[in-house]
Amino acid sequence: MTTMQDRYDLGAINGAVMVFGGPYGNLQATQALRKRAEELGVPPERIICTGDVAAYCAEPQAVVDTLREWGVHVLMGNCEESLADDADDCGCGFAVGSQCAILSEDWYGYCRKALSTEARAWMGVLPRRIHLQLGPWRAAVIHGGAEILNRFIFASTPIETKREEVAHCDADLVIAGHCGIPFTQFVDGAVWHNPGVIGMPANDGSSEVWWGLLQVDSEGRLRIEHQRLRYDHLAAQESMRRNGLHNGYARALSCGLWPSMDVLPPTERAQQGAPLSFPAEWVFQARDACDSADCTSQIV
Ligand SMILES: [Fe+2]
Repeated sequence: MTTMQDRYDLGAINGAVMVFGGPYGNLQATQALRKRAEELGVPPERIICTGDVAAYCAEPQAVVDTLREWGVHVLMGNCEESLADDADDCGCGFAVGSQCAILSEDWYGYCRKALSTEARAWMGVLPRRIHLQLGPWRAAVIHGGAEILNRFIFASTPIETKREEVAHCDADLVIAGHCGIPFTQFVDGAVWHNPGVIGMPANDGSSEVWWGLLQVDSEGRLRIEHQRLRYDHLAAQESMRRNGLHNGYARALSCGLWPSMDVLPPTERAQQGAPLSFPAEWVFQARDACDSADCTSQIV
């Protein structure tokens, strides 16, 4: 077994925070996001990746090297856990015999061979949870669930599940990854934010990918933006094909549609190909400053 830190505390952070999930071995998307961060002036100490650094795409080692050189905070995803342990499968939680499980044999086997021993050792000591304070907001960053790394939590997942996770994290803001589709929701005075992933489109029919920008204003309100990222997806696709990854995920980089929807609940399945849209900005009042049961009225 590898040694893993359960929790890593960043303390209080002032200024805008960039959050993103699933680089998935997509070097071109990772480089494009780094460029965007530099344009926005967000330094690496205010940037957090929710895990799954290595997965579907062709350049997992280069992505590991880029993230480490960049110096951003990286959470352990189930892919890192499995690769660090040299497990037989990706640990994504795909049902045996499902299309996702069959496809994962291809990319997971590729990642096992492509990563150095040193990169896997780095993966094995990544934190499973990151805590930080954003003004009055106590934030926790998790991969899937707080305890179950590969728990799928989508927008349509019942609020009871999110309520449990929020309580477990003891946080006012939970930032999560793993599911691959961005969303933001209000959960009984707390906020759930999934910024989406940069390594694969969001099954929305677009080649663009998603990340999140969070900041707290002078009134202590949390402001969240879902941001799109356009990058050289054709180069990422070409790299997959050049490396023998001729599969549905290579096609997905350009058509924006996942090759399998086994993991999706009916609501997200029905939304395949539908463009995602979010408010220009979500604004949430801090829990102790909100005198209404529905602080979502704070959206502007
Ligand atoms: Fe994951």
